[in-house]
Amino acid sequence: MHKIKQLKRIRKTISIPPDKSISHRAVIISALCRDKTVIKPFLRSEDTLATLECIKKLGVKAKLKGDSLIIQGRGMHFPGKRKVTLNAGESGTTMRILSGLLCAQKFPVEFKGKPSLNKRPMKRIIVPLSKMGARISGRAKRADIYPPLSIKPADKIRGGTFKLAVASAQVKSALMLAGLYADRPTVIKEPHPSRDHTERMLQVFKVKVAAMEKNVVCCPASELVSPEKLFVPADFSSASFLMVLGLILKNSRLLIKDVNINPSRCGLLKVLRRMGAKIKVKKLKKAYEPYADIEVESSELKAARVTAQEIPSLIDEIPILGVAAAFARGKTRISGLRELRVKESDRIKSLRVLLGAAGVESKIYGKDGLSITGGAKLRAASFNSFGDHRTAMSAVILGSLIGGCVVDSVRCIRKSFPQFISLINQLP
Ligand code: S3P
Repeated sequence: MHKIKQLKRIRKTISIPPDKSISHRAVIISALCRDKTVIKPFLRSEDTLATLECIKKLGVKAKLKGDSLIIQGRGMHFPGKRKVTLNAGESGTTMRILSGLLCAQKFPVEFKGKPSLNKRPMKRIIVPLSKMGARISGRAKRADIYPPLSIKPADKIRGGTFKLAVASAQVKSALMLAGLYADRPTVIKEPHPSRDHTERMLQVFKVKVAAMEKNVVCCPASELVSPEKLFVPADFSSASFLMVLGLILKNSRLLIKDVNINPSRCGLLKVLRRMGAKIKVKKLKKAYEPYADIEVESSELKAARVTAQEIPSLIDEIPILGVAAAFARGKTRISGLRELRVKESDRIKSLRVLLGAAGVESKIYGKDGLSITGGAKLRAASFNSFGDHRTAMSAVILGSLIGGCVVDSVRCIRKSFPQFISLINQLP
């Protein structure tokens, strides 16, 4: 049980850890070069360290030094012909993205993870990768396929056009990485644009990639060229918890340094602004991933509508948006939340239980919409994290605003933001 510290007023400049999605990709893509790449800063969290362990097991030399990670790549084909067993821990991103790359290797792989990962659906990568010629299978159960995965060397990887049923950067990235080994370009069509970190990073490594809104074309590559140094900006998703805290606390101002503001990632900025949030984006830097300082100030929030098209750009921020909606005047309506059912928890359920415990009314509407009625008097509560890092952090923010709250466990937060609790505890 974790007792949540109540917070009153913050006026502070803070730094938060590097981006999780970009850190995963930096390790994987650097491993494919023949040269050395220094990734600085690199996120040391359970998920990104799981990716690093997998890459090391594939024969790549890597060294953590301070906040840097130095990768000495092995080229496009990892050495060896014998079967390799990899463990993705609890990281869906590790398993889904790396699978695309492993399909094109010359050795079989058994890809497993911790029990929680065995509940994450993998059919979404297995079906399109199989169409590309991959020999990949898992544990079929009801309508989906789950880990552990078995990947055997493919005779040939075929490019072509692939239409995804869901907007998913993980699926898109798996296909792009397999596409590096394909006989012709790979075209991926998504229902809505998802985060484009893989596209941006492959371009840095001199792969020919063209991205147009919902379509991506990735060309085969015979070698990747290291940029030598790669800067990873702070994680917008991690920043979002602090942003909402700074907006709701009275007489507060919070400046968060060097946060990734890739437009495919920070849909929450737009939604919060529609809710009346005072947010300034300062000192914008135009790198391969744009970043800036984000300043938030106490604001009177009002309810907003969020459309299904917007969801991929704020997919991981729905739990904390739910907390913001609880403090906003009126009813916030969020559509198109189907994908939330298959995250680290069923996040529609875990968010509703979280808000309900504090006395906030929420309702499901249509197929996958959620409405949250803000402005009620909130009560101290004992929250359930559902073992889900983003639900746990949302619970801590909600509890710090109410006072007298506890949450069952905060261990799961190590998945993405290991310093979160100590950072909150250092706030006045
Ligand atoms: C991620 C993509 C998103 C996101 C996840 C990280 C990534 O998943 O929810 O936390 O790094 O590509 P989907 O693309 O499957 O929605």
